[in-house]
Amino acid sequence: MAKTIQAIRGMNDLSPTDSPLWQWIEGQVRETFASYGYAEIRSPILESTNLFARGVGEETDIVSKEMFTFKDRDDESLTLRPEGTAGCVRAAIEHGWIYNQEQRLWYIGPMFRYERPQKGRYRQFHQAGVEIFGIANPEADAELILLTARLWEKLGIREHVSLQLNSIGSLDARKKYNEALVAFLNQHIDVLDEDCKRRLTTNPLRILDTKNEQIQAVLNNAPKLHDYLDEEAKNHFAQVCQILDQMGVKYEINQKLVRGLDYYNKTVFEWVTTALGSQGTVCGGGRYDGLVEQLGGHATEGVGFAMGLERLVLLVQEVNPTVALPRAVDIYVVHTGEGTTAKAFELAENVRSAFPQLRTMLHCSGGNFKKQFKRADKSGAKLALVLGESEVAEKNVVIKDLHGEVEQITVSQANLISELQARFK
Ligand code: HAM
Repeated sequence: MAKTIQAIRGMNDLSPTDSPLWQWIEGQVRETFASYGYAEIRSPILESTNLFARGVGEETDIVSKEMFTFKDRDDESLTLRPEGTAGCVRAAIEHGWIYNQEQRLWYIGPMFRYERPQKGRYRQFHQAGVEIFGIANPEADAELILLTARLWEKLGIREHVSLQLNSIGSLDARKKYNEALVAFLNQHIDVLDEDCKRRLTTNPLRILDTKNEQIQAVLNNAPKLHDYLDEEAKNHFAQVCQILDQMGVKYEINQKLVRGLDYYNKTVFEWVTTALGSQGTVCGGGRYDGLVEQLGGHATEGVGFAMGLERLVLLVQEVNPTVALPRAVDIYVVHTGEGTTAKAFELAENVRSAFPQLRTMLHCSGGNFKKQFKRADKSGAKLALVLGESEVAEKNVVIKDLHGEVEQITVSQANLISELQARFK
């Protein structure tokens, strides 16, 4: 036998058993985005490497060590998108979607990061994300958080996620804070690990979310970012918090929350869970008022978030395992004998026309009724429609309840649809 070929490490196949849950979650996501009036966009998975270097930031982990980058046949450097915001901004500038206008956009699709795979962390993963353009007001930040809270409610995970919130202020305030932080950390240089020492010069703010407990202890006495925020950022943050308070959304202000991408300013947030082990962030986002200009567009405010679908699926499986998914098959049509095939096709098509929401499967692989009923049972269908030669001759069809809840009956083919109507009310 020829050697089999395996999927690439960290890149998963979605099985037919798992796809109903994914479809259900994606359906809730789409419905929620639509109910706030957001429009879907789709952009390519491959982009110019420059886009991420300039957009996400050269010194971020994502750009410096996690990108799938390669040269195409024309020697151009391309990258499989590690996140959706940069591509969304690129597309919005390119097509004039955000020139002098507000936009509320969403996207869903695969992203790629060369990380060490583990539960909840993959090299190909899926995000659903939202970006609002052209709104400077804190209402936009608050709306995004309310939208996510509503989605958690629908998915039955609201009690298992909590909101972490912070403001990282203007670029200018951050610069001043960075200087103060570096000066402070230089006094404790002997405690810093190699990663943090490197970040002292590349991206000091990221030291704040180190997992190293010794460094965390030192950081407790470090200057606080909030003391460096400008009045505008402070007011903006206070208003976001006020709306959340008024709407009853609980949050924790986490002054160490800085996020791993360079484009943020003012509000940043993450929804986290303790139910998934170390990969507990299910959704992250924030404001990025400078990014559009930085990527060559007219200065336009932006704010958005993205959620990891694999982590949401894991969380729903963990805390809400009885979620009511649609049956894979509702009606299974069995038939055997002279002249039954054409009739079975005809009836199955009629049923599909009358009940597009039901899943009707026609037995296609022959065999006697015993074998066909085995298949029907295995399919999980509620009902079987049975056609033998006598039914065809008499223009009848048998309706058999596969779970034995209702007596089997024979009805005329002309009455089939109305009979099924009663069964699937
Ligand atoms: P991010 O925090 O890098 O933000 O990713 C958002 C979410 O994607 C994470 O919270 C996590 O649930 C999921 N995720 C990230 N990496 C992986 C991975 N390797 N495996 C599985 N899931 C993962 C962004 O990407 C920003 N673009 C969000 C944003 C949109 N900010 C403003 N607008």
